Amino acid sequence: MQTIYPFILIIHLICAIIFLGYLFFDIFIFPNIKKTFGSEIAKKAASAIGTRGTKIMPLCVLLLLITGGMMVSQYIGKDSGYFSSNLQKLLMLKIVFAFSIFAMIIISLTYKFILKKPSPIGKIIHPIALLLGFFIVVLAKMMFYV
Ligand code: HEM
Repeated sequence: MQTIYPFILIIHLICAIIFLGYLFFDIFIFPNIKKTFGSEIAKKAASAIGTRGTKIMPLCVLLLLITGGMMVSQYIGKDSGYFSSNLQKLLMLKIVFAFSIFAMIIISLTYKFILKKPSPIGKIIHPIALLLGFFIVVLAKMMFYV
């Protein structure tokens, strides 16, 4: 694990950039399309972006989960404990935030592909995920300094 750890970390970081970059674009950049070109074009663009996003984002999130899961054993576990150090406490909080995002994604995908109904969290999922993502990144870096 020690030898592949840096590669796993780089994959984790790249996936985090893609994931949070997509959310940042969706919330802060995309709304300008509606302002500039009107709601008809914005609707078409949103549908094209959404179709691509639904393909790429779940894969990206899955990779975040797998790579995160591989790295986490270096910091927490039976021998080293789960909440014994400040690093572990912040890492556990980071994981809870990450799993909250995954739970929201599963709810959304279930509504879209299985129930074929609009998701009740459809409008709020991206702003909440971006906010949680911001804290996840801060926690990921801060945990080594506390
Ligand atoms: C939305 C989900 C997630 C995002 C956006 C995210 C983001 C990040 C970022 C930005 C880092 C810092 C990388 C660096 O050192 O430059 C990091 C580190 C880390 N993440 Fe995640 N992460 C997510 C999910 C997870 C999950 C689910 C786990 C564990 C189950 C996890 C475990 C870790 C660990 C152990 C580190 C420390 C790696 C190190 O610096 O050596 N992450 N994460």
